[in-house]
This record gives sequence, structure tokens and C-alpha cells, in this order.
Amino acid sequence: MALLPVEELPEGEMRRVTVGDLDLLLVHPPTGILAIDDRCPHMSAPLSIGKLDECVLFCPLHNGRFDLETGGVVQMPTTGGLDPVGVSHPTWSPPGAESKPEPPGKKAEARRLTRVRWLRYYPVRIVAGQIEVAVPEI
Ligand code: FES
Repeated sequence: MALLPVEELPEGEMRRVTVGDLDLLLVHPPTGILAIDDRCPHMSAPLSIGKLDECVLFCPLHNGRFDLETGGVVQMPTTGGLDPVGVSHPTWSPPGAESKPEPPGKKAEARRLTRVRWLRYYPVRIVAGQIEVAVPEI
């Protein structure tokens, strides 16, 4: 499905495109154009309002950072939790500061058990100057 003329997505840019109920992020790092979910693999914040630095995508909500080349985590979200392979990470505290106290009850448990997933990619090709993405059938 053609989603955007290629000249509208220069290197270093990203663009949210919605197809049905699917929100995609077209992103153009130095390695080439990619399509991923416009949802952070932590708690679903829209990555399209985050920041792109070379091949690293910054989430606007909890400072998670994701590598577009590998799909993995560069920096865990500040809330901590489980990384994609199930390793547990504590809530982030500024360097030199005392660890933040855990929130009470279910909120601490939810943070501890929330897993950051790998980025989800969709196949992309450029045809006749258009960015085409293979989106799942609805
Ligand atoms: S929603 Fe993106 S880091 Fe939490």
C-alpha cells in the first residue's frame, strides 16, 4: 500500500501514517526508510512525537530509547521493568541520587512486570517514488 511520496520523508525525518486502526511510523534513519508501529514498545506512547538521533528513537514518555537497526532497547524506560529478554531493571534515579522509593501496591507490581518489547517492523519498498508498506489485512 502506497503511503507517502519518498521525497516527503528526507533522512532524519519521521512521519505518522494511519491505516484503518493501525498507526504506523515511517522513519528515515541513515540506514534507509523503515516502517514500525507508532507505539512505544513499553507503554504505547506515540513515538512520532519523540526524537530521532541517527538510528536511535527517543520515546517522549519515560525516556526509553530504541535502536532502529536492531529493534532493541538502548536505554530502559525510567520506570524500569523487564527488558525484551526478561531481565529486570530497577526504576531509574539520577546519578548520585538516592534510589526513588517504589510506588505503593499494584503500581509497583505493574512497573516490575511491564516488559519492553522489540520494535515491530513492517516490510517497506519504494515503487515509482512512493513508500509502500505491507500492512496486515484487516
Ligand atoms: S511509553 Fe515509551 S518509554 Fe514508556
